[in-house]
Amino acid sequence: MYYFLKAMHEDDIPRVQEIERQSFSAPWSANTYRRELSSPATSRYIVARSSPSLPPDEPIMPYVPRRSLLQTLLPSVFTKPQPVSPFPLVGYAGLWLMVDEGHITTIAVAPSQRSQGLGELLLNGLIDQGLDMGATRLTLEVRISNESAQKLYLKYGFEPSGTRVRYYTDNGEDALIMWTDVITEPSYQHRLSELRERLALRLQRQAGMVE
Ligand SMILES: CC(C)(COP(=O)(O)OP(=O)(O)OC[C@H]1O[C@@H](n2cnc3c(N)ncnc32)[C@H](O)[C@@H]1OP(=O)(O)O)[C@@H](O)C(=O)NCCC(=O)NCCS
Repeated sequence: MYYFLKAMHEDDIPRVQEIERQSFSAPWSANTYRRELSSPATSRYIVARSSPSLPPDEPIMPYVPRRSLLQTLLPSVFTKPQPVSPFPLVGYAGLWLMVDEGHITTIAVAPSQRSQGLGELLLNGLIDQGLDMGATRLTLEVRISNESAQKLYLKYGFEPSGTRVRYYTDNGEDALIMWTDVITEPSYQHRLSELRERLALRLQRQAGMVE
């Protein structure tokens, strides 16, 4: 199977919410996602899709619309229906820009598709979106108990920098705050390109493209 990233579109929200319900105890509403998608200058959402054959070679964000206020208020009048994608949505992730900080808001892979490198693929997509928007560092909060996600973040240079006590209202769990170093620095870029080479090889092997 091949995997590739695209911008999240409103039509993706029902499937995103399906994965969200399987992944998080306090899922976001469809309206929250719609709101997030309406401000592409400061908020970027991507999805990972799967394809049994080599996918179309297009940039990730070719169709992020810039909306006027009226378009945001009356999306159904202005939004052109997107052709239904033939490629199943298997994961998604999002990032907000605050001044020059990229805040990772969410990342999830469908349970049946985990441990194949898709979390990494999505995180790489977010790092690219952060760089594109001018972020110099990235940050996120993660549940203290979520060791698999923390390992993913540590692999990409996020370091623990404190906790937010009882941050998660559903069970009162603490959040671990993590930050990267400056992502535009040569040292981070070097580490990133090594990780990307390894990930590309892993995904190519899984797709049967290389031995
Ligand atoms: C966290 C999540 C996105 C990872 O996605 P994934 O596709 O399974 O992860 P990948 O296969 O890309 O793994 C990348 C790295 O993450 C870490 N990791 C992923 N799953 C892991 C597991 N079960 N145990 C330990 N480490 C794990 C490892 O460091 C791994 O690198 P490695 O393969 O070199 O060991 C996925 O588990 C998920 O959707 N979880 C539910 C939602 C969630 O918790 N999101 C994070 C909110 S902060």
